[in-house]
Amino acid sequence: MTVLTLQNLTYSYNDGASQRYILNDVSFNFEAGKFYAIKGPSGSGKTTMLSLMGALDKPRGGAVLFKGKSIDNVGYEKYRRNHVGIVFQSYNLIPWMTAIENLMVAMSVTDNDIPKDQKNVATNLLNYLGIDQSKIERRVKSLSGGEQQRVAIARALATNVDLILADEPTGNLDEETSEEIIQIFKRLAHEHGKCVVVVTHADEVALEADEGLVLSKGVLRRREMPVQAAVPPVESQPIAQVQPPTLEQDDPNDVSVEHTDVPIKF
Ligand SMILES: Nc1ncnc2c1ncn2[C@@H]1O[C@H](COP(=O)(O)OP(=O)(O)O)[C@@H](O)[C@H]1O
Ligand SMILES: [Mg+2]
Repeated sequence: MTVLTLQNLTYSYNDGASQRYILNDVSFNFEAGKFYAIKGPSGSGKTTMLSLMGALDKPRGGAVLFKGKSIDNVGYEKYRRNHVGIVFQSYNLIPWMTAIENLMVAMSVTDNDIPKDQKNVATNLLNYLGIDQSKIERRVKSLSGGEQQRVAIARALATNVDLILADEPTGNLDEETSEEIIQIFKRLAHEHGKCVVVVTHADEVALEADEGLVLSKGVLRRREMPVQAAVPPVESQPIAQVQPPTLEQDDPNDVSVEHTDVPIKF
């Protein structure tokens, strides 16, 4: 199932008198149950692209569709509140709150169905991500970087979303902790059906993804297969223009999106 579609996206910044194009007609479908890594050099537009996917900014042209509906129609704020979880390099937690409080803030603003016992839900999620009982009631600023990133991922999941976007999530972490975080993303995709999209300049992340993409000079391409893969290497090719998934013929005013199931047991 296609979770997120980029449809002929363009983005440019004003550079004095001229426009500087960062994204040039980018199209792609992101599917449920897959872990994607988008690699690109610094300044190639990864954060810009993720901001458009997360409704933190608007494209100059084209559209972002969530399960076939333009996020313009879903509503940017509603989409952010109910359908996407975003993980940042510097965690962006509320530092003076405890881990569990950080999750409960996110749960308090979503319209999604969360079981009544929110504290229990938050505790289970944090435990699942490796934050044990002794740490969930501590202010997050006293946790290590790796622990804070686990809390940030738990927060992204706390609203029961199907789509996780992460911007350089291992950028501040050591090698071993980075590997643990990558394994978490893999598990969320493969065992819980999430669509996970990570942008990174790190090879370690890109090599472990189900699909590797490269953003360069405004164009998104499939990445060559790693040498150790069973499939022989292929030439990097521009991604063909993709068609958005067929829209269901339902009430255009109904912007609610059904969750397939509850992938993480609360
Ligand atoms: N607000 C802005 N105004 C002008 N240029 C910007 C702005 N934000 C980013 N840029 C430029 O756009 C390019 C892409 O930035 P970014 O998406 O942050 O790249 P990446 O995340 O791949 O490093 C960079 O050259 C950056 O300097
Ligand atoms: Mg960036």
